[in-house]
Amino acid sequence: MMCQYKYKMNILVIISIVLSLILTSGIVGASEGAGMKAGPGSNATWSGKGGKDSGRENFQAWCTGCHGDEGKGDGPLAESLGENIFPRDLTDASILSDRTDADLFKVIKLGGPAAGFSEAMPAQGGGMLTDEEIKNLILYIRADLCKCKHKGK
Ligand code: HEC
Repeated sequence: MMCQYKYKMNILVIISIVLSLILTSGIVGASEGAGMKAGPGSNATWSGKGGKDSGRENFQAWCTGCHGDEGKGDGPLAESLGENIFPRDLTDASILSDRTDADLFKVIKLGGPAAGFSEAMPAQGGGMLTDEEIKNLILYIRADLCKCKHKGK
């Protein structure tokens, strides 16, 4: 009798673990999708609630190691990423004006490979930075680093 009871408990535990895995992966998937869609049209320039000051702070904290204090791609770690892997010069308006804010959001949130770039560019989503903080970073990059917007129509 006791054995049977234990067996049932185990099944229950397993079912609840599986259910919670399914649920959380569903929620994560949904919010990621929503995050990408929540932005304005591909040509608009995003402005997060904390503004570019929040973007600057997070840039100094998380990005300068590779991208450099001024975003020129010359941070102290830049040399160590591997052969022919260079952090992007984020002051290069000719590159950055070719990107929509959604492009930048994707590479910052999901990491280099999501945009066809090197995996040396680390993902900042998944508990690192919120969508809002990433938008503020984009605002900062546009306002103070490349001083550019997406040039598309
Ligand atoms: C460990 C080093 C490293 C860190 C830290 C890092 N990056 Fe990068 N980043 C790279 C590399 C390397 C590339 C270029 C990848 C390539 O060319 O394949 C890149 C590319 C990018 C691009 C793509 C530009 C384009 O051409 O579209 C953006 C935007 C960017 N990084 C922003 C950031 C931001 C914002 C942070 C901080 C939150 C950050 N990166 C932190 C290494 C890093």
